[in-house]
Amino acid sequence: EPLTVGIDIGGTKVLAAVVDSFGHVVEVDRRPTLGHDVRLVEDTIVDLVTSFAQRHDVGAVGIGAAGFVDATRTTVMFSPHLDWRNEPLRARVAERVRLPVVVDNDANMMGLAETRFGAGRGHRYVLCVTLGTGIGGALVIDNKVFRGANGMAGEFGHMQVVPDGHRCECGNRGCWEQYASGNRLVREARELIAAGSPMARHLRDLVDGDPERLHGPLITQAARDGDPLSIELLNDVGDWLGVGLAGLTAAFDPSCVIIGGGVSDAGELLLEPVRRAFSRALTGRGHRQEPVIVRAELGPQAGMIGAADMARSAARRSRRGR
Ligand code: BGC
Ligand code: NA
Ligand code: ZN
Repeated sequence: EPLTVGIDIGGTKVLAAVVDSFGHVVEVDRRPTLGHDVRLVEDTIVDLVTSFAQRHDVGAVGIGAAGFVDATRTTVMFSPHLDWRNEPLRARVAERVRLPVVVDNDANMMGLAETRFGAGRGHRYVLCVTLGTGIGGALVIDNKVFRGANGMAGEFGHMQVVPDGHRCECGNRGCWEQYASGNRLVREARELIAAGSPMARHLRDLVDGDPERLHGPLITQAARDGDPLSIELLNDVGDWLGVGLAGLTAAFDPSCVIIGGGVSDAGELLLEPVRRAFSRALTGRGHRQEPVIVRAELGPQAGMIGAADMARSAARRSRRGR
């Protein structure tokens, strides 16, 4: 059986991998997304696939994109972080690489990979969130992503948690991802640095006084080094996350909740406050079995592995003529 290519398109980079049927990565590559230009991203994808195909027997391509993908998995309808509106990504790429292509939401791809090959193995009901620029979500039932009527289920990041709250890139206010994502972490730290807060002294030193140079991994490292502000910021994110996950658990009753994305690198510095807030907020606590709350296992490769896996199943189905 041929290998498949998985591609993960985020706000700042395109990650790509050749993957085998066990979810093992055979080769990886990455490119910056120079700006949000849709055509440039498309050229990058074609380039990556073409170069992989010179070295490997590639049978299909899966693409995970940080946006709302339609039910036929062909078109990116909308994205809060990329300039994609009704973008027929599948057709455009398939025509150029001459291989079968599937497109889905990036978090769906990650949820699928973690369920099949990572932290959710053996669970029938898995709820997955990925914390990066925004919050991506996926509900995976019996190893299949729940897609809803229009393909757009799982956009947990855009549930309103604060009326009239912080403005979100989706256009609404008070979305969950404005309170529990990597963006929030960086936003608050930058505000404190810019305001000259004595609390932010350590972080300010790390970026030589320039708030723009601050990014998520620096805050995580500072928290590990014991910086009280960074620990508190991760605590706040953990609180918001735990309460939100309790709401999602009330709705879907999963047995496993997986937290991935850049911010999850903070490990217990994040998970401990998440579990605490979750247990306080979960309805019916003490009278129900609670899901395990675990960190994603496949790290930054999850999206690519899931995309490659989805491409493989789609190719199998079409070979069987369905
Ligand atoms: C988008 C999702 C995406 C997530 C993570 C959210 O803001 O709406 O489609 O999965 O960010 O990239
Ligand atoms: Na999703
Ligand atoms: Zn939003």
